[in-house]
Amino acid sequence: MLAMAAYRLGFRTHIYADEGGPAFDVTARSTTGSYDDLERIATFAQSVDVVTYEFENVPVAAAYHAQRWAPVRPGPRALAVAQDRLQEKQFAWELGLAVHPFAPVDSEADLRSALATIGTPAVLKTRHLGYDGKGQARIAALQDAAAALASIGRHSAILESLVTFAFEVSVLTVRGVAGEIVHYDVPRNEHAGGILSRSTVPSLLPAEHVAEACRIGARAADALDYVGVLTVELFYCPGAKDHFLVNEFAPRVHNSGHWTLDACHVSQFENHIRAIAGWPLGSVERHSDAEMLNLIGADVLDWQRIAADPTTALHIYGKNDPRAGRKMGHLTRLSPRRAHRAAK
Ligand SMILES: Nc1ncnc2c1ncn2[C@@H]1O[C@H](COP(=O)(O)OP(=O)(O)O)[C@@H](O)[C@H]1O
Ligand SMILES: [Mg+2]
Repeated sequence: MLAMAAYRLGFRTHIYADEGGPAFDVTARSTTGSYDDLERIATFAQSVDVVTYEFENVPVAAAYHAQRWAPVRPGPRALAVAQDRLQEKQFAWELGLAVHPFAPVDSEADLRSALATIGTPAVLKTRHLGYDGKGQARIAALQDAAAALASIGRHSAILESLVTFAFEVSVLTVRGVAGEIVHYDVPRNEHAGGILSRSTVPSLLPAEHVAEACRIGARAADALDYVGVLTVELFYCPGAKDHFLVNEFAPRVHNSGHWTLDACHVSQFENHIRAIAGWPLGSVERHSDAEMLNLIGADVLDWQRIAADPTTALHIYGKNDPRAGRKMGHLTRLSPRRAHRAAK
């Protein structure tokens, strides 16, 4: 989607990935190589004017290496913060953003003492490489500790208290090279089995809470001297002192912003490309109300019915195998924009 957005603006893309995938079908050039192959990464970086990444598990060393030949936007520090759940929470906390209680866990003894401070229910998460709820285990009571640690493979982990929130939202912040910032409307996100299933705009957050959420995104983006789209996932707790708790950062365009393709003048993908290219940022205005539904696994097999619905935009990613839990595409249902109504 980034490559397609870039193409529309007259850019040609060169994609580097450790294996071929749908993006290779829509790019002028591609290189398959390991993210640890610094020589190949150097050759790649010399062939482009600017480097970006669209998933947070590119090794930080690869990003630093690429930076010797081309600007890497967002910078490697954003990558380092987002790929380690412990650094991520510490970063938010040091910025003065509200986060729920957390503690590092490297052994069963750590886990027991963390549970003693944080209490139950809690969630144990691997520090690295988790996504779509993978690498997580919920802990209802102290005696689940050993099983939880075993189930995440005894990796370095973080324990978090399980938050009771009203709902989840995300902030999609776009920051340009000169530090200018715009935000998309804040979507309300629903998950099923740890995987995003639906994003809705408007979220029905009161306007002052939308503004508060956006300030969190701006704070983080400024602190990282960020260029591009930064996503912050938040838990919304309207009755609490802090209305939002920071769940995680994604240093990239985000699934909860896919509705911007069809409901906004300029999508998150185009604005990411504009930002990293040093262009003026585009309008983030939302011209329609929208509901984005992920097509997970076999959901995509329903494409004929979805394609026949005139209110719906269908996106299929061209992945071969509709395995259970795999994001195969999404649809966005559009309706005329209504006046803002806040949730009770
Ligand atoms: N501490 C928590 N309290 C309550 N729910 C949580 C907590 N951590 C994660 N979740 C739920 O699990 C989902 C996925 O977890 P997340 O930390 O965002 O990992 P990832 O998206 O990388 O898999 C969240 O969006 C939320 O619904
Ligand atoms: Mg998440």
